[in-house]
Amino acid sequence: MHLSSAGQFHFNYQPTAAGSRPALGPVQVAKSPAVHSRLLAALAALGLLLAHGSLAGNQFTPGAVWLDTSNNPIQAHGGGILHTGKTYYWYGEDRTPGGSGVVACYSSTNLFDWQREGVALSRFDLPRINGERCFVERPKVIFNPRTGKYVMWMHLEQNGYRYSRAGIAVSDTPAGRFKFLQAIRPVANTNAFPTDDNAEQNLYGGTFRDMNLFVDDDGQAYVLYSSEGNWTLYIVRLNDDFTGPATPLVEGQTWARVLARKMREGAAPFTYLHRYYLITSACTGWAPNAADCAVATNILGPYAMQGNPCVGTNASRTFEAQSTFVLPAPDRPGQFIFMADEWRPQNLPDSRYVWLPFTVATNGTIAIPWRQTWDWSVFSDPLEATPAR
Ligand code: GAL
Repeated sequence: MHLSSAGQFHFNYQPTAAGSRPALGPVQVAKSPAVHSRLLAALAALGLLLAHGSLAGNQFTPGAVWLDTSNNPIQAHGGGILHTGKTYYWYGEDRTPGGSGVVACYSSTNLFDWQREGVALSRFDLPRINGERCFVERPKVIFNPRTGKYVMWMHLEQNGYRYSRAGIAVSDTPAGRFKFLQAIRPVANTNAFPTDDNAEQNLYGGTFRDMNLFVDDDGQAYVLYSSEGNWTLYIVRLNDDFTGPATPLVEGQTWARVLARKMREGAAPFTYLHRYYLITSACTGWAPNAADCAVATNILGPYAMQGNPCVGTNASRTFEAQSTFVLPAPDRPGQFIFMADEWRPQNLPDSRYVWLPFTVATNGTIAIPWRQTWDWSVFSDPLEATPAR
């Protein structure tokens, strides 16, 4: 594998069906079957080596401390990844003890070695609301080709989790600093919320908590978030600048209530072959629970819950973690990396990352097997579970 000038990962073979070996170019092979098979094995090994280059030795270890290139634990919790040019940027909650960062940014060209770019958003960039400080959870960043800006959305919150707004910030450069623009509830007052609701949804609209961003193949961007006190997910198309909802808001056309009354959060969307997938968690705070994968043929739904995609011991607790993002595997259509957070509520900065590869089967279903370690060779080999922990 090499990085082209466009920065995409390019494997030195033609993509083959998921799980098959790389197809090698035409070669002259010896006539004896034994020599033939040895030669083929050697060529296959060489093919893999070329295919994965320096990535081959990098072992992802879900749940282990993950150090950045300066040997500090990565602080990008509840995060997401932006791929631009030859670089991946990982944004997430910066919980560095004593730090002023609320969102950190890391960069990598191989998804394994991450260099800290610094604080993308600091607590000094955040508004004070009613004299109270805000904090940030689950920040995500997408690029807007029309404006040339990097746009960050976040769950902006205050103690008590009643403020529950979307925070939106923009930057000319991927690492920031981002400039905070506004705090909003994207969908205002459409439901008959009770007047004694302490999150004041009857005044300001549905709450905005666990969130994600998604850019569809047609370039339209969406924000997905747990709303109505986490009872129902909202999916809302963004305006041309990606800095707010597309207006006018028309339910069923520009936004939708999905997984209504299912109490799902940690929504991690992805698309493949005209299907839209939503991996979500149940709503149990920092404690792990069973994930679900819902599927639709339209980004705005309706979504049908398919059950827990995780496989193996601890699958019912999402391997002790909670969904945050799904990243398409570089140059491997139909293969993805599930990103989840193993929260440590007694010491949140020490929360860990669980990244696991998975494949969309030909019938459109997914299974995410537990792996103690894995490397890029899984994207050429059948994705089979290793013994569960
Ligand atoms: C989780 C949520 C986290 C954080 C936590 C606080 O349910 O996914 O992002 O908000 O609750 O208890």
